Amino acid sequence: MRTNLHLLLFLCLSCYLSISNGTELIIVNNCKESIWPGILGTAGHETPNNGGFHLNIGQQVVIQLPNLWSGRIWGRQGCCFDVNGKGSCQTGDCSGLLNCSGAGGIPPATLVEMTLGTSNNPKHYYDVSLVDGFNIPVSMIPISGSIGCGVAACEADLNQSCPEYLALKCQGKIVGCKSACLATNSPKYCCTGEFASKNTCKPTAFSQFFKTICPRAYSYAFDESTGLKSCKASRYLITFCPPT
Ligand SMILES: *[C@@H]1O[C@H](CO)[C@@H](O)[C@H](O)[C@H]1NC(C)=O
Ligand SMILES: *[C@@H]1O[C@H](CO)[C@@H](O)[C@H](O)[C@H]1NC(C)=O
Repeated sequence: MRTNLHLLLFLCLSCYLSISNGTELIIVNNCKESIWPGILGTAGHETPNNGGFHLNIGQQVVIQLPNLWSGRIWGRQGCCFDVNGKGSCQTGDCSGLLNCSGAGGIPPATLVEMTLGTSNNPKHYYDVSLVDGFNIPVSMIPISGSIGCGVAACEADLNQSCPEYLALKCQGKIVGCKSACLATNSPKYCCTGEFASKNTCKPTAFSQFFKTICPRAYSYAFDESTGLKSCKASRYLITFCPPT
């Protein structure tokens, strides 16, 4: 009886600790090439791991995030850095640095965005966004989360079918696919100016193209067809080039 009570206390304590100790991200490179993830905290939130690191094929890192963290993660590919961490990447480059340290990635880049609770709402919200274009397939999957936890993802290699007009090429090879907003910078595609509301910003032929190939990702600024995922989990798996 006494042992059971101790066990119960221990279980309650560990469950309490796992809830109050922030969130763990497991970031995996399942691509057939090296990638260099970038990570950036939203204003007022810390940027863990100096903002960027290298992941070999098959390698993973675990990142411990503080409570109520908010920010984004993206992948960089085709990078080359010197011993001082200076160089460049074909896509997702952040000021030519291995450690992005607060710099964002140059689009087109597939973004994983998340808000892991706010002071008045403990729920986690996350999505995969193609609003700034696509470079690497990625998914975010909660591990043993609560009911309603869903998968946010763009699993397909969008650059294979990217229209010529939106393609970002490097030495003749397509390495990224721009969103129509990025390619044209026009208010209609960027949902700015007179198009800056849900009623005036509608899907376009280009956002439909993204949507058809990656239905579980945001394809334009007011895309609500996927819904933001809302969840409460203590760990999430983020996989670059997830198995399809
Ligand atoms: C980059 O960050 C790593 C830790 O993630 C650190 O060990 C390294 O010194 C940093 N490099 C530079 C050039 O700041
Ligand atoms: C698309 O880009 C990714 C990385 O950005 C690259 O690994 C892949 O080979 C590209 N696909 C094609 C068909 O060029």
